Amino acid sequence: MAVESLYLANVFSKKPLVFTRGKGALLWDINGKEYIDCASSYGVAALGHCHPKIVAAIQLQAEQLVTLHSCYYNDKRAEFVQKLVSITPKGLDKVFLSNSGAESVECAIKLVRKATGKSEIIGVMGAYHGKTMGALSLTWDKKYREPFLPLVPDIKHVAPDNSDKIREAITDKTAAIIMEPVRGEGGIRVPSEGYLQQVREICNEKDVLLIFDEVQTSFGRTGKLFCCQNWNVTPDIMCLAKPFAGGLPIGITVARADLMSTFRVGEHSTTFSGSPLVCAAGCAALDVLIEEDLAGKAVVNGKYFKSQLEKLVSKRKIIKEVRGLGLMLGMELRCDVYGVIMKALGKGVLIIDAGKTVLRILPPLVISKEQIDKVIKVLDESLEEEENERSGNTISN
Ligand SMILES: Cc1ncc(COP(=O)(O)O)c(C=O)c1O
Repeated sequence: MAVESLYLANVFSKKPLVFTRGKGALLWDINGKEYIDCASSYGVAALGHCHPKIVAAIQLQAEQLVTLHSCYYNDKRAEFVQKLVSITPKGLDKVFLSNSGAESVECAIKLVRKATGKSEIIGVMGAYHGKTMGALSLTWDKKYREPFLPLVPDIKHVAPDNSDKIREAITDKTAAIIMEPVRGEGGIRVPSEGYLQQVREICNEKDVLLIFDEVQTSFGRTGKLFCCQNWNVTPDIMCLAKPFAGGLPIGITVARADLMSTFRVGEHSTTFSGSPLVCAAGCAALDVLIEEDLAGKAVVNGKYFKSQLEKLVSKRKIIKEVRGLGLMLGMELRCDVYGVIMKALGKGVLIIDAGKTVLRILPPLVISKEQIDKVIKVLDESLEEEENERSGNTISN
């Protein structure tokens, strides 16, 4: 801990624990203490930690070829994009590979400008799209944006879940609208019924492209392979990342072929795009996603998890609401969540926040019912302790 603190930029809100091992939904710290991971490294470890098929694929590929620039062809890269496109929504069949969620968004920003010749992009208040300059310009929270002004021009944000606001915001300069189908960092907000369909219709009518940032919501997390499939709405471009290479860094921008073909050679690239090692892990990750029906697991485990969380609402005054879809769950408190997160951590459960007052629960999709029961017990105890500490303090609505 001292060495990391000495040498690394102080930009992460560090918790005083050192993790050295993981298996499935479990992590162990350097002292051998066991934890249930309900954070999955912000949604990356959807397959669980050290899935044997991912480990084997990485080991095998590491002995064959680790890196190869995309100016040459590679068998694993071809296999990966073929497998990927076989499961993406119909019409989304051209891929650009990068290394992170933010990079997948950067590609989308450049692509919509190139494909339409227009500059303006409309985002949503509360959205999170990453922290590189383009992605940051689409991210809403001013605490991330203000220290770095000026950002990319011609970007505006409209109120979420209100299609009239989108219609009003569109001008003849508008290239695209971008949104997360379920907002993650913005507090685990599931859209109201019909909203995404209305947005799709407005985009069709006004000839504006629709980008879904599915960096957090895809890979079965919300009960479908891609979250937009919960409402049968297909975007023109989709941004993916996090679990798609079983834990290795990946970003994926997948678009309609006619859009992606507007990029000319050299207009967009990155050195690590589609390395054989990452693609081998990605092939194994996609195989596990389908073979183990992780989307189905997210439905069953998510329903159970949510119902158990909801039982706590009547018990603990500190809870305002439980929300979510599949295994993308949120519990809004009537106070700051930091104390509860630290208490749960001390009791062996990793939970993260989604804004100041929302607990975000993103476990590996392979979490068991017994593990969920343990998490609920820890959460209940942590909420009770927080409530007792705060009794006497006014809890605002
Ligand atoms: C919806 C969404 N988009 C983009 C990103 C940025 O991804 P990365 O941190 O890999 O750059 C995130 C990260 O949490 C995200 O949740």
